[in-house]
Amino acid sequence: MADSDCTIYRASTTAPVNIAVIKYWGKRNATLNLPTNSSLSVTLSQRSLRTLTTASCSATYPAADSLTLNGKPQDIQSSKRTIACLSNLRSLRRALEEADPSLPKLSTLPLRIVSENNFPTAAGLASSAAGFAALVRAVADLYRLPQSPRDISRIARQGSGSACRSVMGGYVAWRAGTLADGSDSLAEEVAPASHWPEMRAMILVVSAEKKDVPSTDGMQTTVATSSLFATRAASVVPERMAAMEAAIRNKDFPAFAEITMRDSNSFHATCLDSWPPIFYMNDISRAAIRLVHDINCAVGRTVCAYTFDAGPNAVIYYLEKDSELVAGTFKAILSSSADGWDGPFGEPLKNITSPGVSLDKLDSRAVDILKEGVSRVILTGVGEGPVSVDEHLVSETGEIVTDRS
Ligand code: ADP
Ligand code: DP6
Repeated sequence: MADSDCTIYRASTTAPVNIAVIKYWGKRNATLNLPTNSSLSVTLSQRSLRTLTTASCSATYPAADSLTLNGKPQDIQSSKRTIACLSNLRSLRRALEEADPSLPKLSTLPLRIVSENNFPTAAGLASSAAGFAALVRAVADLYRLPQSPRDISRIARQGSGSACRSVMGGYVAWRAGTLADGSDSLAEEVAPASHWPEMRAMILVVSAEKKDVPSTDGMQTTVATSSLFATRAASVVPERMAAMEAAIRNKDFPAFAEITMRDSNSFHATCLDSWPPIFYMNDISRAAIRLVHDINCAVGRTVCAYTFDAGPNAVIYYLEKDSELVAGTFKAILSSSADGWDGPFGEPLKNITSPGVSLDKLDSRAVDILKEGVSRVILTGVGEGPVSVDEHLVSETGEIVTDRS
């Protein structure tokens, strides 16, 4: 490597967030990050929410690997999960170098990883999913690993469980697997985004604050104390996985919607059934639930579905053709109090002047609560998986790029 001693090797990727419609909640092995049940999510478009990560390595860098997130150095030496991801990736690179000695010995060089989320971090908007998917994909690209997205998902899973689903676009299942070493616990594409591209998601941002009980801790409490939990993992979720995959294959929105809502409710029921109880939803979340049911009732068919992760933000799925009925109604309620109506997914709402569903068909208290509590909406839809990009957060000379304007 004599003449490449000062070389800065770089690779950059963007990665999406995903929002589960069958929730992952519970680990059977916390060290390997193996789940008690399979889960299924929709990957959301990177035109709205995305992580951009540059992975670089060089003999000129200080000896310890580093990660800078949104301009702030992170303590990765004490993050077992990040260490697990990086050491897996390094061993795969080492194997390539051993098989082909002409390859530069990148596995021996310190890594400098720089990442930016274009949305709030640790605020219940799935930054850990996009973040670890981007980190693993960027390092895999830097190392020119031949591994498939399925193999990459197995590594991303160790960063954060939900991250394994963000290494693919469209509709993605995380198969829980049964093997003790976790080698069969990985993501699989159920259908590409192009199979059902009309899926839309509207996120009602109820709180952009850091969440109370981190999901990792919350799920451990649930597994240890909830009596509802065992049935959920053993029979409720497996049945729903099969039904959800069929709904996606058949593009059956009413079935997709009902399973999504029921599974969100079931997951939050196990949280309430934990000891001490865990509350992720609040009055504003419950008002959103009420309005979704009111809209479906007023329209006379199921046009929208809610789901909530480990926080109060509502994610509402609907089909593009029903934009006016669903997003148009929420816009009529929220346009004076919440921003976020522009952008690529706001186009169908531009010329709407009246709510798709008359507001007098909706619970007026829920309308008021929502108006008070939602400050921002994010309009998005199903999208693609990680994308390699030429926009780098590390310069050709190895410095962190701070000003990208
Ligand atoms: P969220 O609801 O946003 O997923 P979590 O608290 O579950 O919140 O996860 C946030 C954590 O995920 C951060 O503290 C950080 O460790 C990790 N994370 C978020 N974004 C990135 C990123 N772009 N690159 C690497 N790690 C990230
Ligand atoms: C409610 O993936 O954040 O969003 O594996 O401990 O990092 P760790 O947990 P994480 O949990 C996500 C939980 C959820 C449901 C889901 O995304 O499936």
